[in-house]
Amino acid sequence: MPTSQAPQSPQSSQEDTSDTSSTQPSTESGKPEHPRTIRSYVMRAGRTTEGQARALAELGPLYRLPYQTTPLDTTAAFGRQAPVVLEIGFGMGDATAKIAQTLAETDFIGCEVHEPGVGALLKHIGEMGLTNLRIVQHDAVEVLDQMIAPQSLAGVHIFFPDPWHKTRHNKRRLIQAPLVAKLVTRLAPGGYIHCATDWEPYAHQMLEVLSANPDLVNTASGFADKPAYRPLTKFENRGLRLGHGVWDLVFKKR
Ligand SMILES: C[S@@+](CC[C@H](N)C(=O)[O-])C[C@H]1O[C@@H](n2cnc3c(N)ncnc32)[C@H](O)[C@@H]1O
Repeated sequence: MPTSQAPQSPQSSQEDTSDTSSTQPSTESGKPEHPRTIRSYVMRAGRTTEGQARALAELGPLYRLPYQTTPLDTTAAFGRQAPVVLEIGFGMGDATAKIAQTLAETDFIGCEVHEPGVGALLKHIGEMGLTNLRIVQHDAVEVLDQMIAPQSLAGVHIFFPDPWHKTRHNKRRLIQAPLVAKLVTRLAPGGYIHCATDWEPYAHQMLEVLSANPDLVNTASGFADKPAYRPLTKFENRGLRLGHGVWDLVFKKR
């Protein structure tokens, strides 16, 4: 089990430039009309490469699922009946594509808001000939609310979510009790939540929050060994060479 204090995650980019915990325009009384939700991401400007743009144009229509406010028919979306795993925040999708290739009997829905990442994963899908992966380019919290039917998921992957290091930004972290409770409603009995992080304080928060949910059971005593299907990312490899820690957590729904 890693014990070293990890440095600032090289995979996390966000500086909190916008205060999304702020509210919509105030009324004359100074009271906010509609409090806005706190989001776990900031929309980053990012350059889309030519290859990503081509993948978005050519493969997007085949592998992107439009955001919708009704439950997704996964059998229709994948053309078969298979266990479905949701990934929240796949970044550039390197791990997502490799996992989909390894676990060919499982279907994967990847959620990401960052367009170059969506392009990058589409490119992987084309190059690797993956048929068991679909992408929803939208806030995963809303996707969970609207598109994922209760008790329908075999698993949820959340790898290296933005750690939001500063205490005043911790409220933006994804792994908090309300989101975990929502995930549990979407998991089938026996379904799992697999999280990984390289930020030790967040690892402990994950352990605390997941352990506190009465419908979840830890598959390990504390942090888990890295499951074989999760490949090491290049950032992780570099971090591990430098002696930094990575923590995996795998909990199952009762
Ligand atoms: C630090 S990156 C990690 C990416 C990837 N999982 C990896 O291991 O390299 C976190 C990603 O989560 C995405 N993200 C954060 N909150 C999200 C949300 N609510 N819905 C969809 N994507 C989200 C961000 O856009 C970002 O690309």
